Amino acid sequence: MNTRDQQTVPEQAARERMKASHALDGDATRLAHLYRGWASAFDLDQRRVGYCGPMIVAELAGAVQTAYLAGQRNAVTILDAGCGTGLVGVELERLGFKLIDGFDLSEEMAEKARQTGVYRHAQGNVDLNGRLSNYSSATYDLTVCCGVLTLGHVRPDGLHELARVTRPNGFVIASTRKSYADTTYFEDQVRHMQDEGVLILAQCLRDGRYVAEEDAHYWVFQVPGKISPPTDERP
Ligand SMILES: C[S@@+](CC[C@H](N)C(=O)[O-])C[C@H]1O[C@@H](n2cnc3c(N)ncnc32)[C@H](O)[C@@H]1O
Repeated sequence: MNTRDQQTVPEQAARERMKASHALDGDATRLAHLYRGWASAFDLDQRRVGYCGPMIVAELAGAVQTAYLAGQRNAVTILDAGCGTGLVGVELERLGFKLIDGFDLSEEMAEKARQTGVYRHAQGNVDLNGRLSNYSSATYDLTVCCGVLTLGHVRPDGLHELARVTRPNGFVIASTRKSYADTTYFEDQVRHMQDEGVLILAQCLRDGRYVAEEDAHYWVFQVPGKISPPTDERP
């Protein structure tokens, strides 16, 4: 008996919905339409496919905060990019983070995130494949992005906006499905941004658990601090 035969009908349906979302080629209208219809069943589907990305991303945020960020955890500001129904926010809140904002392309997914009660703001109709014009530069201590840099969703260029809204010395934490990292220019994008001095790769957990059928890489980037202009003063 193969794995597919062992899946229950609801599990198979959940996998089919996930697969359908990967085939949308970043088309905002079609993605918004798909997630509008999926919002109410999304959390249950994710349990069925063994989705553990949100817990890993939140725990990485906790480790980064403890290791590198001064001050209390409850004063750390976080942007959850592509927050969906709020699975990452719920995990962050469980770990003691309190100042969490989120956005998503889908208004219906963002409404579910608002209903969790863990976000200060969760904004719908925000497209990470474009400029995040409602978000100022250098704002958040941590920016997290889970399940969004994935096939058919957001192009690797989206990493630029994630870095832009994060403050100097802050961190961007993102998951990439293995198939996304393997078939897109994501790793070239990372190298390019490192060369430009836009971010520094601090850690990568390769081949971590993600969903039952596929692993993911989990990336931790630091946004470099501002370099002071040279002065004429000599010691
Ligand atoms: C697989 S879900 C992950 C949601 C959440 N981060 C989580 O881990 O549970 C992908 C989410 O990305 C959102 N999304 C897809 N394309 C997007 C885009 N271009 N900009 C912002 N969000 C997008 C979808 O609406 C959906 O809520």
